[in-house]
Amino acid sequence: MTTPTQHDGHHSRGSFATRLGIILATAGSAVGLGNIWRFPVETGQNGGAAFLLVYLMCVVFLGVPMMTAEFVIGRRTHTDIASAYQRLAPHEPWYVTGYAGILCVTLILSYYSVVAGWILRYAVAAVQGTMSSMTNASAFFESFSTATWPPLAYTLLFILLTHLIIVRGVQRGIESFSKLMMPLLAVMLCLLAAGSMAMPGARAGVTFLLRPDFSKVDASVVLSALGQAFFSLSIAIGCLSTYASYFRREVPLLKTAANVVALDTLVAIVSGFIIFPAVFSVEGVGADAGPGLVFVTLPSVFSSLFSGTPALGYAFALMFYLLLVLAALTSTISMHEEVTAFFVDRYHVSRRRAATYMTIVAMLLSTLCCLSFGPLRDFRPFMGRGFFDAFNDVTALWIMPLSGIVLSIFVGWRLPRDLVEDELTSGGLHRVPRWLVSTFFVLIRWVAPVAIGLIFANSLIA
Ligand code: PHE
Repeated sequence: MTTPTQHDGHHSRGSFATRLGIILATAGSAVGLGNIWRFPVETGQNGGAAFLLVYLMCVVFLGVPMMTAEFVIGRRTHTDIASAYQRLAPHEPWYVTGYAGILCVTLILSYYSVVAGWILRYAVAAVQGTMSSMTNASAFFESFSTATWPPLAYTLLFILLTHLIIVRGVQRGIESFSKLMMPLLAVMLCLLAAGSMAMPGARAGVTFLLRPDFSKVDASVVLSALGQAFFSLSIAIGCLSTYASYFRREVPLLKTAANVVALDTLVAIVSGFIIFPAVFSVEGVGADAGPGLVFVTLPSVFSSLFSGTPALGYAFALMFYLLLVLAALTSTISMHEEVTAFFVDRYHVSRRRAATYMTIVAMLLSTLCCLSFGPLRDFRPFMGRGFFDAFNDVTALWIMPLSGIVLSIFVGWRLPRDLVEDELTSGGLHRVPRWLVSTFFVLIRWVAPVAIGLIFANSLIA
């Protein structure tokens, strides 16, 4: 009997070589600006430890099973996300979700690259040591981000860097890069956290981050936690299924998902312990916990550190922005890879050509996002929103939650249960306890669609 599963050509499309490589590449996709920049901001603003608790529930009970579900689709079919749905359920409209994922990831890459470009600019400033003179960081940020050419150049440069890794291939590009960069990222993260916790304001910073304020936890905070969890774990839009299409048969899916979720969450929490203690150590720097944190507040912290102990300020700023550049880069390559894989698998073009197509699309769209802070500031065609905000909203508030619901229903109800179990156990190779398999099914069949649906509906009413 032929199953809609085995695909002879998959060896030629490459695969990850080692388990460590798989975990580091997938964690690389997950760990990004979402962890280091967005998570501390959300936690600080939404009730500290109370938010953290809701977030942890989201990643454990929804993140792990949803990530595993995406792995099942990718590893079973060894193809891009749109073809994967088509192969598993031919002539049924599920594949629309695959296309939605491809669209979503393209839009995310476009606005994400703009922020990554800003980060790159700050990293350059840190290398040059000019951060010491950035006493008025807010004016610097304002004039840089609203200009035309400089932010555009950095944005496009970031996409070019992504392209250069992608064209090297799955093993020599993505896997090698992740294996090199993720350990480096971990070391920098630890050094920064140690440095930050040794600063005089550490206690106040930690208190600010973690003070549990349960009165803040309402429906919109739960939605934020869920949105943050999905974004941070790169869930539901096909990145993970594309990576899983390069997994070998013996990779244990549940365990890999659990490892990646744990790493991603750890990085997010440690980032909070880097940012807030540092912010609270410098007098006169307000604990503005908003999105300007990384571009306005922290440069002021670094600059005042610099004037006290220049070497320390230099090292701190350099490490922090390099950390962000690396984290962002391992995420953008996973977004790029999803669409590159789509062109390769669907249209049978060479990898280099596929990557070039995607790079051109991403460059065009990110140009629009980048300029929406400058010359296109008043061009707001999407219900009063410019490109950057519109891309952000449509992906985070619509495509991600809706794709999440479809993904869980597809794997929970549409796919034959034994097919899913076969993937979970790698065809009987791994012994996965019964209770774990049953729990997986309860979560993916009932808890995930109902919880995401309720939270999504609530956000429409609110
Ligand atoms: N997870 C990444 C981050 O935390 C962002 C991302 C979203 C990557 C969607 C891929 C797909 O920054």
